[in-house]
Amino acid sequence: MAGGDKSAQLIRDTMEGTEQTVPHIFVVMGASGDLAKKKIYPTLWWQYREGLLPKNTIFVGYARSALTVDGIMAKSQPYLKVKDTEQAKFKEFVSMNKYVKGSYSERSAFENLDAELKKIEQGQEGNRLFYLALPPSVFMEVTTNIKATCMSPKGWTRVIVEKPFGKDSESSAKLSNHLSSLFSEEEIYRIDHYLGKEMVQNLMILRFGNMIFGPSWNRNHIASVVITFKEPFGTQGRGGYFDEFGIIRDVMQNHLLQILTLVAMEKPVSTDAEAIRNEKVKVLRCMPELKLENVVLGQYVGNPDGKGDEKLGYLDDSTVPKGSVTPTFAAAVFYICNERWDGVPFILKCGKALNERKAEVRIQFHEPPGDIFQSQLQRNELVIRVQPDEAVYCKFMTKKPGMSFSPVETELDLTYGARYKDVVLPDAYVRLILDVFCGSQMHFVRTDELAEAWRIFTPLLHQIENDKIKPVPYTYGGRGPSEADEMAAKHNFRFTGTYKWTKPQL
Ligand code: BG6
Repeated sequence: MAGGDKSAQLIRDTMEGTEQTVPHIFVVMGASGDLAKKKIYPTLWWQYREGLLPKNTIFVGYARSALTVDGIMAKSQPYLKVKDTEQAKFKEFVSMNKYVKGSYSERSAFENLDAELKKIEQGQEGNRLFYLALPPSVFMEVTTNIKATCMSPKGWTRVIVEKPFGKDSESSAKLSNHLSSLFSEEEIYRIDHYLGKEMVQNLMILRFGNMIFGPSWNRNHIASVVITFKEPFGTQGRGGYFDEFGIIRDVMQNHLLQILTLVAMEKPVSTDAEAIRNEKVKVLRCMPELKLENVVLGQYVGNPDGKGDEKLGYLDDSTVPKGSVTPTFAAAVFYICNERWDGVPFILKCGKALNERKAEVRIQFHEPPGDIFQSQLQRNELVIRVQPDEAVYCKFMTKKPGMSFSPVETELDLTYGARYKDVVLPDAYVRLILDVFCGSQMHFVRTDELAEAWRIFTPLLHQIENDKIKPVPYTYGGRGPSEADEMAAKHNFRFTGTYKWTKPQL
């Protein structure tokens, strides 16, 4: 059964009360941290409230601090968004939670955790999920301890891991080898939360479910592909973490590259996780290492005319080391050396402190050959707007309505907010954690995929660090360095500015 169908089946079974009542225990390792507070507990509450989880699911927080369940919920409160009418249900959810305090390094602490889990299971077959919302420094010891003491005695055990998955090929391989020495690939769920987003998941259906797109999805028809991620805010006190990684590791090497593989891969033999991941790896294997000459790096500086935070540059963040050359913006051009894509540039662009929040995939088609319209045609574009305002729209030429016989740009527009008014799009984490319960790895990153991703970026990352390559300054709230636009133009992306998509009136 395909991953999505499995989730749907689990949801149906749960709703109809036919789900087996074996205990499922969801352990949040690092329950005191930011990720747990902002994402994991709100996700678990959402799933619980919607009745998506197996009936007998218990949530166990684990961290070093002396905490209580009420304390965790209080910290998470702004993100849980519990409505007045949901108070009774929320109380029920809280009662399904436990907290265990313990060290990350001592085996005895994990034996204690195991004893608590066994108390919940009461000798029955039970399944355990460990979410590792932890700093990289304790990752190895925690996983070693889980394997030694906390594996489910009768059911399955799955571990969910979050980036950073290392900093380069070598450190990532060390982590992967460590994980593979403890767990099988089926037990490891590497999260890239972009794979849980509605429009990213839609890519496969759009491509392989439509005869109008499939046949033109290649170098004969497509001139360039641009995948963009923009955020309108800076590091906001998170500079300490960010400075060690930079925007390439934070966003491009994972989120944008994952999207690229879904845009570029061949049709998998089925929707099975392994079939899909096999195709994604093949794309990466056809990509040469990224070269500095195909990259523009930027770092934001304050805008003296801006409001509040906009006045502050990256280097004004007190958590950022003085004189740091870490990029907060990067644009890079990739080529995929295979029969379908040879010569087509894939331009990946991401940055913080830019003019808007937006993530999208823009497929730009060639001009029709043999122009009979005196150069009045603009290139067709198919845009998959990931966020905000999820949409798929196609920019194309039509006859100017009325007496005129000249071409004019217009669009075919599927904006989700207008077309699917009553549908709630779940957060990426809601889908992905549910997939782990269901055992579907379709939307998770496999070990070999990760290794290939690092191969493509590692030489460049080392070069940037060793040579202290200076990023181009760009102003907070702007479009980023103009050098990035120039590079895109050089690589066959045509920006005319003659057309702008506007969100339809909802
Ligand atoms: C995270 C990055 O992976 O993704 C953050 O570490 C970034 O720097 C975030 O802000 C963006 O996620 P989203 O879902 O808000 O687009």
